[in-house]
Amino acid sequence: MKRILVAGVSGAIGGALAEAILERDEESVVVGLCRDPGKVPEPLRNQSRMTLLTWNAEDDQSPDSVARGLGKILPASEGIDTFIYAAGLLHDSDMFPEKRLEELKAESLSRAFAVNASGFAILVQALLPWLRHREFKRIVAISAKVGSIEDNRMGGWYAYRSSKAALNMLVRTLAVELPRRCKSVACVSLHPGTTDSALSDPFKQSLAQLQVHSADDTAKNLLAVIEGIMPEDNGRFLSWDGSQLPW
Ligand SMILES: NC(=O)c1ccc[n+]([C@@H]2O[C@H](COP(=O)([O-])OP(=O)(O)OC[C@H]3O[C@@H](n4cnc5c(N)ncnc54)[C@H](OP(=O)(O)O)[C@@H]3O)[C@@H](O)[C@H]2O)c1
Repeated sequence: MKRILVAGVSGAIGGALAEAILERDEESVVVGLCRDPGKVPEPLRNQSRMTLLTWNAEDDQSPDSVARGLGKILPASEGIDTFIYAAGLLHDSDMFPEKRLEELKAESLSRAFAVNASGFAILVQALLPWLRHREFKRIVAISAKVGSIEDNRMGGWYAYRSSKAALNMLVRTLAVELPRRCKSVACVSLHPGTTDSALSDPFKQSLAQLQVHSADDTAKNLLAVIEGIMPEDNGRFLSWDGSQLPW
């Protein structure tokens, strides 16, 4: 992994992944995408092998501006070998995971789909010129186990669950098309495991019985899985420990 693009680099998991990648290989260069580069912690922001580009999954113009910005840093002919989508939206000041049907809002569904699902596929579309080279490429969508349709026994969290299920379907669909157009490639969904972050923070108490990882530990776990991804893993839904999850 030498030329990596991480979307959602201002987040706990995206930031820790970028840091771990840069630390692990001194030849690696990382391009980080986020809404506000000023939010990225200073040591990472000041890393000489790190470039930040502004990107908002809820803004239709953003993918084009990412492609323009990326073109100035990495020529498409050089390409990228790893794309990690680590952006995600579960709650913010205007939305919170629904406990019951009456709490469901069209606006929350639409925002969750924009950040958790469409943002990923539209970026892959914008990145196609960087994915055409012959080296093996890994395209990794950080998904969530709660997006598994088969595993849904609890209900609730309509917007988040359904948008992560949509992300998983986008991964499977890309996994059919990309090998024909960007050989060789593996496109996978990856559940990071419960991780201490702004996203999980409101649920700390209810998560107490679960194993909660620090973002740094999650980054180590995920990198071990990502580095092990081979062409034959294309289209799989993997967990942080490398095990396979049901769709
Ligand atoms: N933490 C967990 O326990 C857990 C469990 C399962 C799955 N996940 C998944 O792991 C991924 C990373 O989550 P995290 O725990 O690191 O959460 P986090 O710290 O809250 O990071 C979320 C990231 O998504 C970005 N984001 C939100 N809305 C955006 C938008 N409109 N456009 C662009 N970026 C946007 C945030 O950007 P800003 O900094 O600008 O807000 C931030 O970079 C997410 O996909 C999440 O669903 C997390």
